Amino acid sequence: MQIPCTAREKELFKCVAQAARRIGVPCYLIGGFVRDKLLNRNTKDMDIVCVGDGIALAHEVAALLDPSLKVNFFKTFGTAQIRYKDVEIEFVGARKESYREHSRNPEVAPGSLEDDQLRRDFTINALAISLNEADYGQLLDPFSGLQDLEDKLIRTPLDPAQTFSDDPLRMMRAIRFASQLHFRIVPETFQAIKENAGRIRIISQERITDELNKIMLSSKPSVGLDLLYQSGLLKIIFPQMTDLVGVEMVEGKGHKDNFYHTLQVVDNISRHTRDLWLRWAALLHDIGKPATKRFEEGHGWTFHGHDAVGGKMVSRIFARLKLPQHDKMRFVRKLVELHLRPISLTKENITDSAIRRLLFDAGDDLEALMMLCEADITSKNKAKVKRYLENFEMVRERLKEVEESDRIRNWQPPVTGEMIMETFGLKPGRMVGEMKNAIREAILDGEIPNSYEAAYQYMLQKAKELDLTPVK
Ligand code: CTP
Repeated sequence: MQIPCTAREKELFKCVAQAARRIGVPCYLIGGFVRDKLLNRNTKDMDIVCVGDGIALAHEVAALLDPSLKVNFFKTFGTAQIRYKDVEIEFVGARKESYREHSRNPEVAPGSLEDDQLRRDFTINALAISLNEADYGQLLDPFSGLQDLEDKLIRTPLDPAQTFSDDPLRMMRAIRFASQLHFRIVPETFQAIKENAGRIRIISQERITDELNKIMLSSKPSVGLDLLYQSGLLKIIFPQMTDLVGVEMVEGKGHKDNFYHTLQVVDNISRHTRDLWLRWAALLHDIGKPATKRFEEGHGWTFHGHDAVGGKMVSRIFARLKLPQHDKMRFVRKLVELHLRPISLTKENITDSAIRRLLFDAGDDLEALMMLCEADITSKNKAKVKRYLENFEMVRERLKEVEESDRIRNWQPPVTGEMIMETFGLKPGRMVGEMKNAIREAILDGEIPNSYEAAYQYMLQKAKELDLTPVK
């Protein structure tokens, strides 16, 4: 089997083959490396399975490549890793496994290559290529994985219920591969995910979130997100998302289905950015809608305050999903909180003051916010979409003009707290804060220009009102 390989990879195959011959264990390339090569995708990690001791093979390979190479190994799992230049090579002894009912940790027994292939998650991940002299380069494909690769199908080698019960994370992996590779999960396999969804609870949050992030980074995340919903997994791992599903009708009036709207917004933004956190902001932008939904007589459905409520939910969701708590969470929360602001600026008679306030609140994240707002336009009416986009273009123009004249983005107070304290002989405290706020508000409202001189004069005038006199 010819697979596209770099010179370094070829050199490594030869070296592994030589080491395996020396210690007398048959060995094979297997798993994601073979799959990705056959699909012409980039891959760095190389998986090697041998019929024998994987750790011993790793040591032998390291000795041949470079005796100073470090071999990381895990005796209990019989696995070892070497990092050689930019390639990570993983070694494992072929095994048959049976899993205990409530744990991911398998009981492992040595097995043949075929036993090992059979215990893997999907037929497309069970393809092996021989590195042995007798049949070097031959593809070993007992479960028609190659055909499934061609037909773009995700299918388990064993009865799917068995495969998923052995390791429930594979249910997430199936959906992730479908989303990442644009493959279809065969009905029998998908049915087994539905039936075993509850078993996902024994998997650690970090591993679940890892798969969720891979889905979010696929070119059309809605594919994976919808499969998560359809399978019942989403309700378990991320119930706030399934709360968005559905359309309620009152007096013949319905609102849009916020779940499918959200998926479309995520897809829209994914066409313009690979930034995971901007994609997360799209996923969570309407998360406050179920909690704020009301039907107002004579008016229809409203979601007043869903931006603020949604913003508050972000930190709880990030904590539960074990997503990064600091900068990334703050970025997503800020975008969720601000996502209605640019659209409110498309109305007529918008003052410079409103524009300045958005510049001030969004700061460096203004571009990201505008991108989110444009992705949020999901109307099927082409004329309407065009009109909204034109309006946003006008908002962008205004933002640019006001920024050029007033420099509000990354605003630093022209008169600092220290200056206020020095001028009036004050200690840090409420009075200093009030004075600073008053100056900021005056600048944002356009009452005074954003300059030191104007801010200083304003401070003196404000001090008179507060009965403060300068000490010098
Ligand atoms: N595997 C499995 N069950 C799992 C995880 C992995 O059967 N829960 C097997 C599959 O044969 C897989 C191989 O181990 O191809 C390597 O796993 P891993 O490196 O985690 O995934 P890849 O398939 O290589 O894909 P990716 O790197 O995109 O995660």
